[in-house]
Amino acid sequence: MLTLAQIAEDPDSLRSRLESPDGVPLVFRPLARTDAESLAGSLAALSPESRRFSGFDGDDLAAAQELCAAIARYDKLRLVLEEEASARIVGLLEFSLSLPDGDLVRYRRAGIHLDEATDCRFGLTLADDHQGKGLATLVLPLVCEVARRLGKRRIILWGGVLADNPRAIRYYEKNGFRRVGSFTGPDGQTSLDMILDIDPR
Ligand SMILES: CC(C)(COP(=O)(O)OP(=O)(O)OC[C@H]1O[C@@H](n2cnc3c(N)ncnc32)[C@H](O)[C@@H]1OP(=O)(O)O)[C@@H](O)C(=O)NCCC(=O)NCCS
Repeated sequence: MLTLAQIAEDPDSLRSRLESPDGVPLVFRPLARTDAESLAGSLAALSPESRRFSGFDGDDLAAAQELCAAIARYDKLRLVLEEEASARIVGLLEFSLSLPDGDLVRYRRAGIHLDEATDCRFGLTLADDHQGKGLATLVLPLVCEVARRLGKRRIILWGGVLADNPRAIRYYEKNGFRRVGSFTGPDGQTSLDMILDIDPR
């Protein structure tokens, strides 16, 4: 089973190449410490709607530096999608291997017993010009493969998905995530909990 320390030591173990649905060559790889400025630029370029849906609403450079500083220090794994030609980061994919008490309680109420040994949290954000073309669907098998190599059998949404984000909900549902329930966040917004059983292969 792959560990976060091993990934930080050998990031190429998770690196792969793919082509976006509209033919742009992309690289899928772990976030690197040297990505902070490039990632900050990508976050800054997000539309207000994408920022709201993904929760990146503060200082982009600080957020990007924090994500880079977290490499191999916590329970988090971040991967990026990068355009091969321009080296622009066009996707951020985030795993957390820890499960907060609030999530455990909500899922238990729905009859699902989460376990850090087998379950992880996941979220993703694509650059606006790469949304709505099937890219996130194309990349999901790579996401599941990473989760499998980390020893996981299920993926839950990190922080849920906002109930007024129909594209994301459609994306998750068409790719096998099922609705578990809904909850109201501290900001009064309603989100849905969703879970995916990873195909064991
Ligand atoms: C959500 C997100 C990751 C999905 O990635 P994507 O590559 O755009 O998704 P896909 O194109 O694979 O699938 C989107 C589906 O939603 C559909 N869709 C698009 N807009 C929609 C809308 N307003 N209402 C309902 N469905 C919609 C698309 O038609 C497609 O379904 P289809 O293949 O059956 O036609 C991406 O759009 C994104 O990064 N959005 C901004 C950040 C965000 O919302 N992150 C998720 C936080 S939980």
